[in-house]
Amino acid sequence: MNDAPHQPVLYKEIIHGLQPGRGGRYVDGTLGAGGHARGILEASAPDGQLLGLDVDPQALALARKTLAPYEQRIHLVQASYTSLSAQLAQLGWDAVDGIVLDLGASSMQFDTPERGFSFQHDAPLDMRFGPSVLQTAADLVNKLSERELADLIYQYGEERDSRKIARAIVRARPLHTTRELVTVIEAVSPRRGDRLHPATRTFQALRIAVNEELASIEEVLPQAVASLRTRGRLAVISFHSLEDRIIKEFLREQSKDLVNPPYERIYEVERKATLKEVTRKPVMPSDEDIKNNPRARSAKLRIAEKT
Ligand SMILES: C[S@@+](CC[C@H](N)C(=O)[O-])C[C@H]1O[C@@H](n2cnc3c(N)ncnc32)[C@H](O)[C@@H]1O
Repeated sequence: MNDAPHQPVLYKEIIHGLQPGRGGRYVDGTLGAGGHARGILEASAPDGQLLGLDVDPQALALARKTLAPYEQRIHLVQASYTSLSAQLAQLGWDAVDGIVLDLGASSMQFDTPERGFSFQHDAPLDMRFGPSVLQTAADLVNKLSERELADLIYQYGEERDSRKIARAIVRARPLHTTRELVTVIEAVSPRRGDRLHPATRTFQALRIAVNEELASIEEVLPQAVASLRTRGRLAVISFHSLEDRIIKEFLREQSKDLVNPPYERIYEVERKATLKEVTRKPVMPSDEDIKNNPRARSAKLRIAEKT
């Protein structure tokens, strides 16, 4: 039975896509509660090994429990997936058979009020995935200029009311709690019909900025490709269009041979495609999955194979 709080998003699709086998070496770069990791370990029994990374010590503690039956085959490290190459070097693994990244915050993080991820609970404006993250949401909200805040909320939240919200934040600050921030947002950006809660996009934007999520994805993808052995697979689940765009473009780019056109003065290094896309279109959760786990609603899975 699953003793993690929720069945992880696109669980079957991840296991089917990665095709873990006996003796394989796998990386879960976003371990969370260890749900996907457990599936990989089960499917690669009796001797598949897994390196699991997470920046959140609470996630690691949870995963350690979930994965206790596989203790002999796991290596769990509190570290960012942006240190993937270094972590593999540390283990002495020169290539791996599969890598999974299930991006964003976990259900556990959303459901722990004091972490400050949820606008439905009152808590300090924190939103850090782990203690190594240098700034909190309060730091950003209270220190950035109105212009910087507006840009951040617009870019990372795709929020139409970003300017109004930024102006209201600057007038009301210092802000220390999620409730204070929600009140400021609700006053200038009222609920429209049955659309999202007006604070949803601003909270998403702050979380992405606090944890430098987009830069981290850009940093890890080339390391993932370099770490896979031939026919090894990379599976990435994203939850919003900004992440998905980075992943889609990277996979497209790496799936093409790079040849310099003879008539143009471009002197880039020519290279063969490094990846083959296994999923031309992203895999999305079924209605059944969404019913069991509403967080799965916006998930998109892309899988590629090293050539
Ligand atoms: C959606 S959850 C993963 C859930 C997991 N797949 C499971 O089956 O339970 C994402 C996790 O990634 C972690 N995380 C986010 N950014 C990270 C990073 N740069 N490096 C390592 N872990 C990260 C978060 O702390 C969170 O625990």
